Amino acid sequence: MTDVSRAAAKLRAGELVAFPTETVYGLGADACNPLAIAKIFAAKGRPADHPLIVHLPDASHLERWAIDIPDAARTLAAAFWPGPLTLILRRHPAVLDAITGGQDSVGLRVPNHPLALQLLREFDGGVAAPSANRFGRVSPTTAAHVREELGDAVALILDGGACAVGIESTILDLSGGEPRILRPGMLDAAAIGAVLGRSPEFGGTQTAPRVSGSLEAHYAPRTPLQLAPAVELAEIARKALVAGRRVAVLASQPLALGHENLAWCPASEDAAQFAHDLYARLRELDVMGCDLILVAAPPDDDSWRAVADRLRRAAAGSK
Ligand code: TXA
Ligand code: MG
Repeated sequence: MTDVSRAAAKLRAGELVAFPTETVYGLGADACNPLAIAKIFAAKGRPADHPLIVHLPDASHLERWAIDIPDAARTLAAAFWPGPLTLILRRHPAVLDAITGGQDSVGLRVPNHPLALQLLREFDGGVAAPSANRFGRVSPTTAAHVREELGDAVALILDGGACAVGIESTILDLSGGEPRILRPGMLDAAAIGAVLGRSPEFGGTQTAPRVSGSLEAHYAPRTPLQLAPAVELAEIARKALVAGRRVAVLASQPLALGHENLAWCPASEDAAQFAHDLYARLRELDVMGCDLILVAAPPDDDSWRAVADRLRRAAAGSK
């Protein structure tokens, strides 16, 4: 039996399987099995009212999960699936409340990773999968991260190497009214707008569905993380060092402050590469034994929006 066949059998048996996607590793369970879904919440320590994304083998499965599917959803699915886009649609009545958090909507996506697609095709159904990390923590982008984070809570981990994108999918709400990006990702508003013929709005409305990835404190290392403009880093680091603190800096250039308590972790100047590296870097920085992680704020530019969003939440969550 191949690893993928074993994983599909575990899903059918109601067990948890971690698998790679192009964004981050997911912690998967049969989306039609309430007991299996309960295991996800237990393993993650995640509040029960937070909805889960259902992963599908292809867009032909949409009708089993959603109703009143707008043309825009089909157009976007044709353009970007498999890929890092989650669509929020009106839920099919058969979808479990444990998946939707009791809302009228459901999050659906077809991930772009060969192992994920093989698993989904062999399972031939919907796989509910949040990122395979403990609630509020940094998402895993390698199989080793999943093992560190969840250990024995997961029956099987499919190892598909490092995730190509590195941060979570763009979440687009199409469940009513204007298209809205609820969580920015590396598939940006311009790309979605070009296909839709109009630009999506950003952020939820009061009636828009809840997104736990939009909680202010999320994706956080344990070490306090501070974001600051590149020109201010040296001064902030100097003050912290004078106060006896050990400082790690994530920036494209090292600071010209030779000090034994100062470490530098190189950051890419390219948004896609930065996103690819981000969570692995945060994990490395977190185990360096520093008192402060200082990160150079990314450019205020659309291509950096998703990275800036994750860094802001990491800073808020590490306080
Ligand atoms: O890239 C990704 O999307 C990864 C990989 C594994 O596919 N998954 C992921 O799952 O990031 P998770 O659970 O960590 O984040 C999913 C987000 C949550 O913030 C959740 O609130 C939101 O999707 N979500 C799911 N269903 C929703 C719904 N019906 N309405 C609004 N938000 C929803
Ligand atoms: Mg997550």
